[in-house]
Amino acid sequence: MKKLVVIGSGVMGRGIAYVSCLGGFDTVLIDVDEKQLLNAEREINNIFEKGIARGKIIQEDAELAKARLNYSNFLADNVKDADLVIEAVPEKIDIKKTIFEVIDQHAPEHCLFASNTSTMSPTEIASFTKRPEKVIAMHFFNPVHKMPLVEIIRGLETSDETAGAIQKAAIQMGKETVIVNEFPGFVTSRISALVGNEAFYMLQEGLGSPEDIDKAIKLGLNYPMGPFELGDLVGLDTRLNNLKYLHEKLGEKYRPAPLLEQYVKAGRLGRKTGRGVYDYRESVTTK
Ligand SMILES: NC(=O)c1ccc[n+]([C@@H]2O[C@H](COP(=O)([O-])OP(=O)(O)OC[C@H]3O[C@@H](n4cnc5c(N)ncnc54)[C@H](O)[C@@H]3O)[C@@H](O)[C@H]2O)c1
Repeated sequence: MKKLVVIGSGVMGRGIAYVSCLGGFDTVLIDVDEKQLLNAEREINNIFEKGIARGKIIQEDAELAKARLNYSNFLADNVKDADLVIEAVPEKIDIKKTIFEVIDQHAPEHCLFASNTSTMSPTEIASFTKRPEKVIAMHFFNPVHKMPLVEIIRGLETSDETAGAIQKAAIQMGKETVIVNEFPGFVTSRISALVGNEAFYMLQEGLGSPEDIDKAIKLGLNYPMGPFELGDLVGLDTRLNNLKYLHEKLGEKYRPAPLLEQYVKAGRLGRKTGRGVYDYRESVTTK
């Protein structure tokens, strides 16, 4: 496996492109939005710089990795000679469907397709293509350059060969893997969505401030991050999309908290927009 294409340069795509080029793959990061691509490039360069400053990577490796990474808004052209395509566009099935139909048309026969979906069925995603045995879910975690796991989820028709090649690619990107069977939300998103949603219900009920709820969960339950800190990092829109999907598939216990819906309507999506449950704008000194 030599050339890897990552589609979507948002919170996750940029992290996946970083670990991919560092892992030795010729990588192209694609987005329809020029501004997102520019932001992604800036953020990836920042991660490289911090990595060098902290002694985690050497300058020479960083330069080689950067030289392997390109940015583009042309999808069809770039998948023509790809060996693996990883999709990281928003958690909406219609957007994913269009992407998989296009890449199936343009990518070579041997090319494998992976979706970074947090909740959705790789079997359904595979059905948008004529190569279901080559389609799988490859679930990275945020922030990708720090989180060690990739959760690999096989669809009904995913071949052993595909699962093995994807596991090998994840290991080459410096990750640990688990391979699980398909069920909405897999292992991690099912738990994370439930905890994050419950915290919003608590906030809505006036149980405590966001700071105190986060502190209670961190110090009382030994979680490394509070549910609001994590929600702001994930993106509240992404969290809401995950919950809507899980609510539809798994029932009432995943009904999104109305307060979460309100935050998303207000455009308070978390770190990526400067404000979510907490405020990250520069003029604000609290959080
Ligand atoms: N945010 C997280 O913590 C997290 C963690 C694990 C998995 N995921 C999953 O990863 C996927 C992406 O999530 P995200 O948080 O990075 O989203 P995001 O909103 O930050 O980024 C999505 C990107 O996709 C781009 N895009 C939209 N339509 C496109 C198209 N047709 N072609 C190319 N690019 C397109 C957007 O411009 C945007 O830059 C989702 O499926 C999500 O569930 C997210």
